[in-house]
Amino acid sequence: MLIAHISDFHVFADAPETALVRADAADAARKVVADIAAHQPPIDAVLFTGDLTDGGSSADYALLCDILKPLPMPIFVVPGNHDKRCGMRAAFGETIPFEPGPALNYAAQIGDLRILALDTLVNGEIHGAVDPVQVDWLAGKLSQPHAGPTIIAMHHPPFPSGITKLDEMALQDGQKALSRLIAAYDGQLLILAGHIHRPFQAIWQGAFCQVGGGPSFQHALDLRPHAPEPGSIAEPYAYFVLRLTGQESLTNHKRYVSL
Ligand SMILES: [Fe+2]
Repeated sequence: MLIAHISDFHVFADAPETALVRADAADAARKVVADIAAHQPPIDAVLFTGDLTDGGSSADYALLCDILKPLPMPIFVVPGNHDKRCGMRAAFGETIPFEPGPALNYAAQIGDLRILALDTLVNGEIHGAVDPVQVDWLAGKLSQPHAGPTIIAMHHPPFPSGITKLDEMALQDGQKALSRLIAAYDGQLLILAGHIHRPFQAIWQGAFCQVGGGPSFQHALDLRPHAPEPGSIAEPYAYFVLRLTGQESLTNHKRYVSL
């Protein structure tokens, strides 16, 4: 099974909300989508880890849906701090089994892959959080027997990048509870996230963890402990193609797209 992991398109219909976002973010997103659509063998599903839009307006989501139209495979999304829940529910409510209630959590399955999506959006804030109800929901799902791999999809990484200022804006409330849950899980577990705008992998609490880069902009790498927030950098962009063969193996490829 092939899964494309994309993140942080930040598309906008009128004007960007975020200073670093490139003016042609929609065109960049279309190039990524075209590459996924043309991939051979075909990609089985797309996991989009948040900041789908830059401002969350209904016009932004209409543009996003138009951009994603060439993709025939299932697309699983989670909200980022730049998204709006009502817009996402309207855009994806017919294809994604969102749980009842305001948060856009859900569980889905494709083949033997289980997807557990966590809504980490805190209205009006850059950082993310999961509340005790969400932690209980996730614990309940993880306690159900499952033979294949499990992906937890969320926008704000619960694991560190080492880029201090960006980690301070990542998952805050609920991070420790989530950490205990991940450490206790006995099975193949992947956590896919976004938000950092710089692609990297980690092993955290025994899980394979990954942040997807953003075609809208990418942050420079600065691992000095007291470094200021990094600016953007013109580096090649790649999305990830995960090759999953049950519990047997996981291979992760970078697929470069010229933007
Ligand atoms: Fe973002």
